[in-house]
Amino acid sequence: MAKDSTADPGAMLQVATGYTSAQVVHVAAQLGLADLLADGPRSIEDLAGATDAHAPSLARLVRALAVLGVVSEGDGGRIELTPLGTTLRSDVPGSVRDAVLFLVGEWSWRAWGGLLHSVRTGEPAFDRIFGMSNFEYWEHDAEAGAIHDAYFRAMARTTSAPLVAGYDFSRFGTVVDVGGSNGSLLAAILRAHPGVRGILFDLPHVVAGAAPVLAEAGVADRCAVVGGTFFESVPPGANAYLLKYIIHDWDDARAGAILRRCREAAAPGAVLLLIEQVLPERLEAGTAAQRVTRLDLQMLVLTPGGAERTEGEFRALLGAAGFALRAVLPTASPSTSWRPLLSSWMREREAVGARAVYTGMLARGTRPPGHVPGYDGVSYP
Ligand SMILES: C[S@@+](CC[C@H](N)C(=O)[O-])C[C@H]1O[C@@H](n2cnc3c(N)ncnc32)[C@H](O)[C@@H]1O
Repeated sequence: MAKDSTADPGAMLQVATGYTSAQVVHVAAQLGLADLLADGPRSIEDLAGATDAHAPSLARLVRALAVLGVVSEGDGGRIELTPLGTTLRSDVPGSVRDAVLFLVGEWSWRAWGGLLHSVRTGEPAFDRIFGMSNFEYWEHDAEAGAIHDAYFRAMARTTSAPLVAGYDFSRFGTVVDVGGSNGSLLAAILRAHPGVRGILFDLPHVVAGAAPVLAEAGVADRCAVVGGTFFESVPPGANAYLLKYIIHDWDDARAGAILRRCREAAAPGAVLLLIEQVLPERLEAGTAAQRVTRLDLQMLVLTPGGAERTEGEFRALLGAAGFALRAVLPTASPSTSWRPLLSSWMREREAVGARAVYTGMLARGTRPPGHVPGYDGVSYP
């Protein structure tokens, strides 16, 4: 009772109306306000002209941005960017503009509006609202697909360096990035390790965008690109199977199927590397728990049964697919605004196939041991 009487209803309302801040920042990102302020302060009228906005309404948005610390008022009432607002510029290292455009974009916004449906049924609100799964939607809606891709490219730009630096990929002959999107992470791995070959694997329309990424990194001659679905098969014979943010997109049955396809494909002694966030085993408050639990709900409303998992849940899932969890490694973090995020919640998990599985494969003579430079039916360009 004493606890109740000291509770602050205003604090609860502040929490409950967080959606307003999300849209204020989202609209600023959509209008490109931070880029327009990159070279210095500008008047509201000037900004309204540049963004084709209604000046008095833009002034109201800017007032709200000032409350959030994104802009401030300079000489003569002109609007200037704060250090926080600078992160919304599209041309700064660690820019979050693409992330905001995706995470608060129409599909996320509407899917979160269906959270009650997902909590009642366990089904993704997204599918009910849009009549298809999120992955189908990114393929069929060009604008949404472009924003989705830009978000993952931006994420990869920020997160690849610490992932590459934090793990010894040089010991592998061939690394497959399963669901590797346009190849940003794999390109960074190959660039850092000239002795390693890569195979980028994702849906056909997704890997179609990989050529420029691999060429720009100067690794195209060491990286095969394969389109397909990981529910059927993944490229066989590699020494490492890397899955970043793949398992969290799927329920246990389908995540297990993906892992089994990897186990079937892997060369003897191959290593499976999952890069995922890890849910705390017990309920927790605090920033790190907030981020992973928010992503967990994002998976609930958006994906086909996807979920963040605890270490125990990962261990069980891997075990059921014939892998033994060997190590859980914290990743380093970049010197960007993402730093606290990465250092606090991202974990790299390493699992290795149980000896019996590979003994069996060897006995059947399906794969030679050791380094496998290419794999069946696919040659490097
Ligand atoms: C959350 S994204 C992660 C992308 C990338 N690994 C990263 O971390 O930036 C999931 C990826 O899985 C891919 N994907 C979805 N369904 C797939 C399927 N059936 N077969 C292969 N890839 C698939 C998507 O195209 C997308 O690139």
